[in-house]
Amino acid sequence: MVQVNSNYLKLKAGYLFPEISRRVNTFCESNKEASLIRLGIGDVTEPLPQACCKAMKAAIDEMGTNAGFRGYGPEQGYLWLREAIAENDFKKRGCAISAEEIFVSDGSKCDSSNILDILGAGNRIAVTDPVYPVYVDSNVMAGRTGDASLTGHYEGLSYIALNAENGFKAELPSEPVDLIYLCFPNNPTGAVASKEQLINWVTFAKEHNSLILFDAAYESFIQDPLLPHSIFEIQGAKDCAIEFRSFSKNAGFTGTRCAYTVIPKCLQGKTVKGDEIDLWSLWNRRQSTKFNGVSYIVQRGAEAVYSLEGQSQTKNLVSFYMENAAIIREKLTVAGYKVYGGENAPYVWIESPNGMDSWGFFDFLLNKANIVGTPGSGFGAAGEGYFRLSAFNSRNNVEEAMRRIASI
Ligand code: MLT
Repeated sequence: MVQVNSNYLKLKAGYLFPEISRRVNTFCESNKEASLIRLGIGDVTEPLPQACCKAMKAAIDEMGTNAGFRGYGPEQGYLWLREAIAENDFKKRGCAISAEEIFVSDGSKCDSSNILDILGAGNRIAVTDPVYPVYVDSNVMAGRTGDASLTGHYEGLSYIALNAENGFKAELPSEPVDLIYLCFPNNPTGAVASKEQLINWVTFAKEHNSLILFDAAYESFIQDPLLPHSIFEIQGAKDCAIEFRSFSKNAGFTGTRCAYTVIPKCLQGKTVKGDEIDLWSLWNRRQSTKFNGVSYIVQRGAEAVYSLEGQSQTKNLVSFYMENAAIIREKLTVAGYKVYGGENAPYVWIESPNGMDSWGFFDFLLNKANIVGTPGSGFGAAGEGYFRLSAFNSRNNVEEAMRRIASI
């Protein structure tokens, strides 16, 4: 009989969001009349920007002609999209990132997991707690950790606690680590990292020859003009960081699928013998072997995000969700909840009331108000006692959800 990857057996029961769906389905089976409002998984609800639809329709028409048909595209993404990204997301913010350093993909979740393919098994890894569960689980699956303890912490990972006492700031580890996962604006707490904090991280990484995996999937939700959108706004970051970006949330591409990863050409790792080797070449090799690129049609849709029309439509989408976040923050505060985040991120992080634990509050909201959120403990031990509400929903649903919460 075939042997399985026993690392999978170290994983906790289920991935957080499928586990929530399982519980919600069970609830719905015995409460058929319930009108649920889902503020759990951060999945967008508003239609795609018209500029993207138009571009994708035109691309389909092109593909239906002899002259416009295309087969396999470049594994790294079409140059015209990589150039638009480099120009708009980086050069305009003063970051010297070239089109070649951008690898277009079908998602940041996949990229932030797949990156482990090019990184060695012996790296000491730091993650925040709470954390986007993919960073931890993908390391467990790849055999980069030991077993989980009773608190849910895996042996071999260093955890950096994000809590109300430290303002949900990621403090530098007290010991050297090789690989650091950072996500700002943060999923799940909605906290942000200031320029000074990122300077400290880059300084730490350069001092210890560490690599920062910077997940900036939510950068477009930043409202404060002083906050950095990219790790590459920090001098020296090109020598110590990889950045993940996505069209999922700003352009509503969660179902359409397009993202990208930035790997600076100068970024070096080392072999077991201690020789330097550039990570760009390894990732390029990995992608060319295991990935056939994102569809031409979808890449044309992503390119349209950078058109004048696309920029204004995505800005409107982001503003819409941020108005939802403001409503959630305000109504919950008035109802007596302690809330964090939601000012530069589409997530509001709530302290569970009356000392309830996270799953207890999940069940309470589901049963009493038919609202689905995400239990903080699903993001790590330090998330216990917290709860995440997502601002991705229609205005009606958000307002109705807040009415229901205020009345329980
Ligand atoms: C979340 O709810 O945390 C996000 O939807 C996760 C993701 O983007 O994969």
